[in-house]
Amino acid sequence: MSNVTKIVALLITLTLTLAATTAPTYEITASTPVWEVMTRLGKVNVNQLDPDKKGIARKGQELVMQGFTSNLKGKKTARTSPKMPCMACHTLQNEYDNPFVIDPQKRLEYADSLDIPFLPGTPFKGIVNRVFFFNDDYQTIFENEDKLLVKTGHNNIRKAIQGCNTLYAKGRKLDYWEIESILAFFWTMELKVGELQMPEDDIDIVKKAIETNKDNSKAVNIMRRYYREVYPATLITPIAIEKRKKISPILNSFSNGKRLYRRACLHCHANKRYSNYKLDSKQKTFQFLKKNFDKENSYYSIYTAMRYAPGHKSEKCNAPHFTAERMSDQQLQDLRFFITQMARLGDEAYDYYKNF
Ligand code: HEC
Ligand code: HEC
Repeated sequence: MSNVTKIVALLITLTLTLAATTAPTYEITASTPVWEVMTRLGKVNVNQLDPDKKGIARKGQELVMQGFTSNLKGKKTARTSPKMPCMACHTLQNEYDNPFVIDPQKRLEYADSLDIPFLPGTPFKGIVNRVFFFNDDYQTIFENEDKLLVKTGHNNIRKAIQGCNTLYAKGRKLDYWEIESILAFFWTMELKVGELQMPEDDIDIVKKAIETNKDNSKAVNIMRRYYREVYPATLITPIAIEKRKKISPILNSFSNGKRLYRRACLHCHANKRYSNYKLDSKQKTFQFLKKNFDKENSYYSIYTAMRYAPGHKSEKCNAPHFTAERMSDQQLQDLRFFITQMARLGDEAYDYYKNF
């Protein structure tokens, strides 16, 4: 029997079996994959692996985490990017204990508690549960020489992977087996129902919809309240200079700025780990950053380096953008407050502001 006939035969048997039992039951447990529930409700799984392309999750993991792997003949591949593997900008964990939450301040505190970085790229955990990529402003206002890659990646995870490696990682073109392997690795991080924090009542409604094949779209919408099928992306530009200057111990939190510096900036800039520009915790480093805060035409303004600033010099140096969802202006102002105090007082600032 060909595979198709086998599947058809299987489906017929399945339908007959289901029809034979009067009340078909469907169990949803903590380890039930979210995609299993969604496909039962009639959604098409758009990120499925291609069985002919033989993606290997372990090789995908190596490509993502170290930036190279061994090819199918056992030979080491070229690096995906000269300086930035995916892990420079993406994490592998849920970013909050509730995967629907994307609030940047909740995420920063959570990242701190888990000792993981706070990064511009969306998490790979649950990425196969998403159906669109590079959303909103990436599809509309985004001006960049590689913007077409982001456009074609909008509804195609493989193209989003390729596009991101070119646009943000400044890397090489990935082979099809490498992309398929990365996708296979992503599938090891798919969401399970137990991670969604769904109340029993809602699980029951979904279960009933599956069992009766009624109210499926209502059930789909209930599922969508507990995780993100789409990560919103708002590419905000730097806030006005007059507004930036308004920092004070009342408006800003020193410890939050410190947290951001550690979880974001130092992740990439300490010892030039994932960049060519070194940051550390010396007073003169902070003085340099402070001097450049509001210089319109400097490469070194934290505002233009973090935000989308088309036409600005720092857009050319390719720092990854943090959208409004990934870092708030309040957080950036807390960082300014932290840097300002570190520039003024050096290490004494830690003591001085320990309760702020
Ligand atoms: C220099 C930083 C950087 C590196 C390195 C990087 N990315 Fe990204 N990636 C981003 C940013 C920024 C976004 C857009 C996030 C947003 O939507 O706010 C993104 C988005 C994506 C998306 C779309 C996700 C979504 O939820 O819309 C995919 C897929 C992706 N990256 C895959 C990869 C892979 C695979 C690699 C490594 C081969 C990689 N990226 C390396 C910064 C990076
Ligand atoms: C995901 C990695 C990453 C994170 C996180 C990150 N940066 Fe960067 N940053 C870069 C890269 C890459 C560049 C481009 C120039 C380079 O390679 O150094 C850059 C450029 C800059 C520049 C301009 C300097 C230049 O050489 O063009 C400044 C200033 C800067 N970053 C500050 C910060 C601060 C402050 C933070 C924390 C809020 C931060 N960065 C977070 C990767 C990162």
